[in-house]
Amino acid sequence: MSVDYDDLAKRIAALTEGETDEVALMATLACEIHHADDRFDWTGFYRVTEPELLKIGPYQGGHGCLVIPFSRGVCGAAAREGRTQLVPDVEAFPGHIACASSTRSELVIPVHAQRGLIAVLDIDSDQPDAFTEADAAALEGILKDVFGHL
Ligand code: SME
Repeated sequence: MSVDYDDLAKRIAALTEGETDEVALMATLACEIHHADDRFDWTGFYRVTEPELLKIGPYQGGHGCLVIPFSRGVCGAAAREGRTQLVPDVEAFPGHIACASSTRSELVIPVHAQRGLIAVLDIDSDQPDAFTEADAAALEGILKDVFGHL
């Protein structure tokens, strides 16, 4: 299955119009993105709650680790570098945090608002090499539309 990102972006824009609460927005995005594609086995946000620290936010899927320092894992790398991490094989990523042993690949995208980095969006797949640059670009666009002006 592949996502119709135009349709997803339109649905998210309609659902989130006028909303400025970050947790309400994250919850809506986690739900809409997660159910848009069966490659996505865990979809959620880790929020920057203090310097160099991520805490779990709204998500869909099995339970996730509650706290991730910027120094650790794929999420930490995305937050530290401020760059999207597309990881085709989590076993090959030094310091990957295995919240679920079934995870094979991962896409993590930094979420920026006007005040700077507020979170990362983490999508995990049980399929190896599940994500493409096209997924990353489309999701980066959606995140910018929803959070970029806040
Ligand atoms: N695998 C992530 C941790 C978060 S969970 O898998 C939900 C990482 O290495 O950052």
